[in-house]
Amino acid sequence: MNFDLRGKKSTTLHAIILGVFSTAFGALLAFTDILTADEIALRMAEDLQASLVQVIPPAIHDNNPVKDSITLKEGAKDLIVYRALKDGKVTGVAYEIAGNGYAGEIKLILGVDAEGKILGVRATAFKETPGLGDKIDAKKSDWITRFNGLSMGNPPREKWAVKKDGGQFDQFSGATITPRAVVTAIRKGLDVFDHNKARILEVRS
Ligand SMILES: Cc1cc2nc3c(=O)[nH]c(=O)nc-3n(C[C@H](O)[C@H](O)[C@H](O)COP(=O)(O)O)c2cc1C
Repeated sequence: MNFDLRGKKSTTLHAIILGVFSTAFGALLAFTDILTADEIALRMAEDLQASLVQVIPPAIHDNNPVKDSITLKEGAKDLIVYRALKDGKVTGVAYEIAGNGYAGEIKLILGVDAEGKILGVRATAFKETPGLGDKIDAKKSDWITRFNGLSMGNPPREKWAVKKDGGQFDQFSGATITPRAVVTAIRKGLDVFDHNKARILEVRS
């Protein structure tokens, strides 16, 4: 009888200790979450600014393109279009495009001027093989800069492909999948600009 009572007491005590620890641990996790969420948001904003500056020359705008962004509906997805403005007029835009590479999704940022001419393209995230597919990285080769100044129509649509597919862009030796994915992504990205040009260039005062 005595033994039973001691057993009940110790079970209650264990339950209380467990409760206190799990509540304290939960609170600690929530607190760390709040702290890191701010840090992550800050890092993401810095990364975005670093990418934007590479595809929208600072000389063509007097605004913060992030603040003057608009959101387009692209199928089921939202596409944020960062807009560069000078004297109240859109001089260029940048938005994310993506392709299916050898090792998964390749994310890129495409900068286009108000006439639809490419200002710059940069690969922002990919897992392509070092030494093969990673030549899309501006730090590894100048391949990605060869799109500068081009637009849909220059070259003609059918030439927006790698040479192996009858287009005008070099593939890499032994690695055609990666550059093919990037050229396709850019071609589709230029179509996004053309299809949404009126909305992209519209500035409401
Ligand atoms: C381990 C390994 C990694 C590869 N990585 C890539 C890559 O990152 N990008 C790519 O385009 N091809 C890559 N390839 C080659 C592709 O499998 C494919 O053969 C090639 O893209 C086709 O190009 P080709 O028509 O010029 O031969 C890789 C192949 C192997 C075996």
